[in-house]
Amino acid sequence: MLELKEVTKYYGNKLAVERLTLHIPDGTLFAFIGPNGAGKTTTVKMLAGLLKPSSGEIIINGKNIINNSLEIKKIISYIPDQPFLYEKLSGKEFLNFIGQIYHLPEETLESQIARYVELFQMSEYIHQLIESYSLGMKQKLVIASSLLHHPRLLIVDEPLVGLDPANVRIVKQLFRQLVKEGITIFMSTHILSIAEEIADMIGVIHQGRLIAQGSFSQLKSLKKTSPSGGNLEDVFLLLCEECQT
Ligand SMILES: Nc1ncnc2c1ncn2[C@@H]1O[C@H](COP(=O)(O)OP(=O)(O)OP(=O)(O)O)[C@@H](O)[C@H]1O
Ligand SMILES: [Mg+2]
Repeated sequence: MLELKEVTKYYGNKLAVERLTLHIPDGTLFAFIGPNGAGKTTTVKMLAGLLKPSSGEIIINGKNIINNSLEIKKIISYIPDQPFLYEKLSGKEFLNFIGQIYHLPEETLESQIARYVELFQMSEYIHQLIESYSLGMKQKLVIASSLLHHPRLLIVDEPLVGLDPANVRIVKQLFRQLVKEGITIFMSTHILSIAEEIADMIGVIHQGRLIAQGSFSQLKSLKKTSPSGGNLEDVFLLLCEECQT
C-alpha cells in the first residue's frame, strides 16, 4: 500500500529526513515514533502530498504520488497535528461539507455521520458551532471527518492529543477495527504505550534517519532491556541513546 524509497527532505540546507525507505503492506497499523524534531511531521506531510521530497519516491497503492496526486487524494485521508476547522460551522455542517468535497451520495454521508456521531458520543453538541468545542471534541470531529469517505490509507500526526482516556480507548479500538477491514494506518505518536499496544509495525526515526523498524517484539529483541523484558519506552530510549554516542 505504502512505499517510501530513499525519501530525503531538506528545508533550505537543513536536512530533516534522510534516505527514508519503508514498505508498509495493506491492512497494517504503522506507528512512527521519534524524539522532537526527528522528522515525523515532515514525513507525514510528504505522504499527504503537502511537501515535496527533495529526492526519493513515495508510492501509494502502486502509484507515484507526484504524478497521480488527485487520484491518490481520493483514497487517502490526512489528519494534521494542528487541524484546521471552520469555527463558524456547526460540527454537523462541517461533516456535511467534507462529505460534499468527496462527492459522497447523501445517504452514504448521512449514515457515515450517524455512525461516527454515535461512536464518539457527539450528539449533544454536533449542532453547536465548532468554536465552542473543547480540544478533544474538535479532535473527535476531525477523526470522524477523515473517515467519511472510507479512505484506504489514513495518515495521522499525533491523533490522540487532547483525548480523555475513554476516547483514547474508542480511537484505539476504531483504528484496530479499520485495519481489520483492510485500511492501512500511518500514525506518528509520542505515546509509546499506545504504539506498543496497537501497532503491527513500529518505525523509529532519529535526526531524520530510520534507526529501527519491526514489530514491538522484533524491536525488543534488538535491545537488551531489563530482565523482565522492558517496554517500548525502554527500547526507544536505548536506541536513541546509542545514536547520540
Ligand atoms: N518549515 C520548516 N522550515 C525549516 N525547518 C523545519 C521546518 N519544519 C521542520 N523543520 C525542521 O525539520 C526537522 C524535523 O521536524 P519535524 O517537524 O518533522 O519533527 P517531528 O519529528 O515531527 O517533531 P515533534 O515530535 O516535535 O513533532 C526539525 O529539525 C525542524 O526544526
Ligand atoms: Mg511533529
